Amino acid sequence: MAKKAVNRAYAPYSHFQVGAAVLLANGEIVVGSNQENVAYPSGLCAERTALFYANSQFPDTPVEAIAVAAYTNGDYTDDPVPPCGSCRQVILETQNRYAHPVKILLCGKNEIYCVPSIAELLPLSFQHL
Ligand code: THU
Repeated sequence: MAKKAVNRAYAPYSHFQVGAAVLLANGEIVVGSNQENVAYPSGLCAERTALFYANSQFPDTPVEAIAVAAYTNGDYTDDPVPPCGSCRQVILETQNRYAHPVKILLCGKNEIYCVPSIAELLPLSFQHL
């Protein structure tokens, strides 16, 4: 579903289409894609589009996993595309909020990285609570 979601990206500036699929504990899967803007910083990555939508539609349902795929120059990327720092911070907050590890699947054509928890991708993170 992350691979399919790249088709819904709005990426006229980077031509780098990213799709994310969020699996919830109730079995629901929510997808998102990157949404760019001519005022560049106003755009949002696929991961946060999907996660914020999932958390706003299902505020009481833990997130089990997020899968990410990217498509550019007419094909899916050979290598997995790791989430940016801001997305890592948001995934961490989701993991902490539900006290439930968020599994991360980063899908490239050559390989898929399967990360058991965001703690692996954001060590020594800022945590206020
Ligand atoms: N992007 C994502 O959506 N997720 C990532 O993990 C990396 C980058 C987006 C942001 C921007 O729209 C485009 O990819 C190029 O950086």
